[in-house]
Amino acid sequence: MAPGEQSAEQSSRPALIRTLNGETLSRPPIWIMRQAGRYLPEYREIRSRARNFLDFCYSPALATEAVLQPLRRFPLDAAILFSDILVVPDALGRAVSFVEGEGPRLSPLIEEDDWRFEDPAKAVQRLSPVYEAVERIKEALDPSVPLIGFCGGPWTVATYMLQGEGGEKDRSRRAAYARPGDVDALLSVLAETNALHLSKQVQAGADCVQIFESWSEGLTEPLFRRLILEPTKKLIARLRALGVTVPVIGFPRGAGPHLTLFAQESGVTALGVDTQTPASYARAAAPAGMALQGNLDPQALVVGGEVLEREARAVMADFAGGPHIFNLGHGITPEAKPEHVAALVKLVKGG
Ligand code: CP3
Repeated sequence: MAPGEQSAEQSSRPALIRTLNGETLSRPPIWIMRQAGRYLPEYREIRSRARNFLDFCYSPALATEAVLQPLRRFPLDAAILFSDILVVPDALGRAVSFVEGEGPRLSPLIEEDDWRFEDPAKAVQRLSPVYEAVERIKEALDPSVPLIGFCGGPWTVATYMLQGEGGEKDRSRRAAYARPGDVDALLSVLAETNALHLSKQVQAGADCVQIFESWSEGLTEPLFRRLILEPTKKLIARLRALGVTVPVIGFPRGAGPHLTLFAQESGVTALGVDTQTPASYARAAAPAGMALQGNLDPQALVVGGEVLEREARAVMADFAGGPHIFNLGHGITPEAKPEHVAALVKLVKGG
């Protein structure tokens, strides 16, 4: 076959998978981080049926319905499992709750002397409703739409466990300096548990996975290597050792000047690019031919109209010339209007 020519098998594969494998398509595939969520009235309706957010995540029927909702409205190129990165600490024995309108709450590790966690293999056994959801979602999905599984990056999940809540990460960083042995052991447990968690999702039918390392910002280079790069490397190496071959998208939000390190050394297949990072910077940071995903400003999606059109066209132009998956630079916000999402998908698909 001549270079650039595609076999029928290759061109019949979903656009997302082709792009992850390094092909540059004439139109980028599109999906949206947090595409199932509160900006959709039908999501708010089913969400109100569950007692709390984690019960919702642990209900395979509700999780399946949440995944399908955005796909009924918009011709998106991928579905993403409905769950949360914090089911992992919950399964490790650090009970997680979600306070309405405020966010996640855990009992903070930094206030405890002796840190103990459930065995990772047992923790993922507790997460069987998540894998059952993946099976159900795959049965319900059009086979042409790939399903993305996910987990949190070890450091991002650790910050919630350390502080017991989101917000400024100062207390987590202080713990990383003050209790290095404990924090490194925690990161190892999270790398192992998340590797098992992703492997189970793939066994259940996920076609690729994304690691949300949403709190990669504000770190010195040595801390970035220790808290982000090494644990992510360990997670991906373990996933490969478990026999998982699907593409891995890494999303180190806020990595800034450390993006090259992450792109070159972590073992990711593709790089999620956050809102602040120029496409040219990400392209230069990544190995040649690596797919980049991003990075429309979620606020442009809230504003809509000509602003949205201008910004979306700029994203496509800036990422053209290499494999690109259209997405936002961070999750969609509850204020975004579904009509704006419809207009965006239409524009990206060339309508
Ligand atoms: O993308 C998707 O559609 C899949 C589902 C998904 C959720 N959370 C559902 C959710 C994914 C991929 C996540 C990832 C996640 N969760 C991250 C990383 C991505 C990012 O946005 O940075 C983080 C940091 C979390 C932790 C988390 N979960 C927080 C801080 C909150 C509260 C803040 C908020 O947005 O409400 C959640 C709750 C949550 N996770 C909701 C959803 C739809 C909203 C809860 C609700 O419906 O009541």
